[in-house]
Amino acid sequence: MNNFKHLPEPFRVKVIEPVQRTTREHREQAILQAGMNPFLLDSKDVFIDLLTDSGTGAVTQNMQAAMLRGDEAYSGSRSYYALAEAVKDIFGYQHTIPTHQGRGAEQIYIPVLIKKREQEKGLDRSKMTVFSNYFFDTTQGHSQINGCTVKNVYTPSAFDTADHFDFKGNFDLQALERGIQEVGAEHVPYIVSTITCNSSGGQPVSLANLKAVYHLAKKYDIPVVMDSARFAENAYFIQQREAGYKDWSIADITRESYKYADLLAMSAKKDAMVPMGGLLCIKDDSFADVYLECRTLCVVQEGFPTYGGLEGGAMERLAVGLYDGMNQDWLAYRTAQVQYLVDGLESIGVTCQKAGGHAAFVDAGKLLPHIPAERFPAQALACELYKVAGIRAVEIGSFLLGRDPKTGKQLPCPAELLRLTIPRATYTQTHMDFIIEAFNQVKENIPNIKGLTFTYEPKVLRHFTARLQEI
Ligand code: F0G
Repeated sequence: MNNFKHLPEPFRVKVIEPVQRTTREHREQAILQAGMNPFLLDSKDVFIDLLTDSGTGAVTQNMQAAMLRGDEAYSGSRSYYALAEAVKDIFGYQHTIPTHQGRGAEQIYIPVLIKKREQEKGLDRSKMTVFSNYFFDTTQGHSQINGCTVKNVYTPSAFDTADHFDFKGNFDLQALERGIQEVGAEHVPYIVSTITCNSSGGQPVSLANLKAVYHLAKKYDIPVVMDSARFAENAYFIQQREAGYKDWSIADITRESYKYADLLAMSAKKDAMVPMGGLLCIKDDSFADVYLECRTLCVVQEGFPTYGGLEGGAMERLAVGLYDGMNQDWLAYRTAQVQYLVDGLESIGVTCQKAGGHAAFVDAGKLLPHIPAERFPAQALACELYKVAGIRAVEIGSFLLGRDPKTGKQLPCPAELLRLTIPRATYTQTHMDFIIEAFNQVKENIPNIKGLTFTYEPKVLRHFTARLQEI
């Protein structure tokens, strides 16, 4: 079927979830009541929900069927062993701790790695810095509440939407090494490789870059954690874009990628396709002490280590989802769907980041040049898009980034983006066409779109609950 223009959805839909159509009047009222913050909208008022791809996608029939096999034993559950076997087979990691989602893994491994550094080297954590190609917000938050400074060392063109470099998720290796030398390697308790790099637009990290980061980390005796939410999409981009891997299977590329980390933390709600679930895995016994500490913390924070944050059925479903998420046709279709949306938007003059794995990232700074960063152009665009078509998207810009905790000043943001996140196997090409048409209508009204200012601004993670008004 390679001679067709589009690979249609490589699945059949089996269960229908009805959604409500709403009137423009209703939506104007709803977004006003939500304080011009789509996070505060009720799902019943949303027609196409592109807030996230996290736990919002469809599951496969094999995943659904696997749930019935759940062994709910408090300890030593058969379902735990099924999950741990899948992890060994796919990633080659020896120790598995199930967690309720990605941040469940973070709340365990982050304090453990920091404490290890502190005790082994007799150091003060307030002088410690951790590095990433870009920390996801919760990974950053956990690092900060445990006393560390965070630093993102991304490739220079990462946020330049005019640049179409294939691996915009890459680390800037020189900036990483410079950063390590500046703070002193002993002050770096871990490095996080985020694949794909969510914050720069679902952009992949090349195998060469993962390898180089790992070798650099080993030179300075620093553990590397793979933040693995979109591991399969990253492997797919390596296969398609990196020289030398076009004949490799997704499974082989995945296995190879995970040689270049010591720990794996995963939000399984993305590429592993489950509505809820996460993983914390340790490669081998060179980190046996870390594993034992993590296992102990797991008991008090998540649950007994052979279920952690998950019920037996959910562990079975996850074990299957890890494999189903690596299906070649599925990944080809999924990335083509995002590409189709990006191409459609660009064809009507809406600039996007190079198409990534899980979302189209619209450059709102370019689309609404009359709204300065501190008036949140991408948030204003999100509100307009909702009013026009009932589509809910999420701001990835100054509003999300927030203020410097020390000075209280707005942090400078590399780009003002609006993320149109595509849940897995949930929306069709017709939905993509509808979104493009909605943007056409938004474009007609650009001069009338107004910037926003706070009426309520929480001190931390403000984007979830802040309220705004037009100015
Ligand atoms: N790491 C990455 C790269 C993520 O994208 C996320 C979540 C997490 C960690 C945290 O995992 O939500 O399971 O606790 N990202 C979601 C998103 C929420 O919308 O991009 P979690």
